[in-house]
Amino acid sequence: MSQFKIVAFSGSLRKKSLNTAALHAAAELVPAGVSVEIVEIGDLPLYNEDLRIDGGYPPAPHRLREQVRAADAILISCPEYNYAVTPALKNALDWCSRPPSQPFAYKAVGIIGVAGGAAGTARAQSNLRNILVGLDAYAVNQPQVMIGAGHTKFDADGKFIDQQGRDFIKAHLEALVKLARQLKG
Ligand SMILES: Cc1cc2nc3c(=O)[nH]c(=O)nc-3n(C[C@H](O)[C@H](O)[C@H](O)COP(=O)(O)O)c2cc1C
Repeated sequence: MSQFKIVAFSGSLRKKSLNTAALHAAAELVPAGVSVEIVEIGDLPLYNEDLRIDGGYPPAPHRLREQVRAADAILISCPEYNYAVTPALKNALDWCSRPPSQPFAYKAVGIIGVAGGAAGTARAQSNLRNILVGLDAYAVNQPQVMIGAGHTKFDADGKFIDQQGRDFIKAHLEALVKLARQLKG
């Protein structure tokens, strides 16, 4: 079977983001034959319909749309800002949401999230799931990966050291690959 490719992005733009660190943990925990490519969303302009000229996209949004299109599945690490997804993440999803050939349609999407609070991004993930319905994407339902008190669960080098959380990410990735294969028929 050919290599299965997950394209991943983090809703946090900061260098020491725990959500981005969680994606690096995910890259270590994928099943055999699966790769994770972490892609950039910090260089996207703020969504502005005027930037779509003759239905075309500026370079950075075009690149992200093609990265999503080429992926077998998507993994989003979803921080929580004031009970919702971050503006960076919403901006990336908005750029991907417009025609032609909207790249999230019928894609399998995994969701993980790390927060400072005890709810572990539960509210932001709920918000994200709603947005993904609008993109006609299919999110993994279970197991959900909500990592609370995030600052206690990574070491000084940014390695995710919570074994229970690592087990949840691994199981979530297995469910993501299974869902993607089912959607492809
Ligand atoms: C603007 C802002 C809003 C936040 N709102 C929440 C929140 O609603 N719930 C929560 O658990 N943490 C909240 N936090 C704390 C984040 O969970 C914490 O900073 C986390 O580490 C951010 O993810 P990152 O490490 O990937 O950047 C907020 C942080 C910022 C900067």
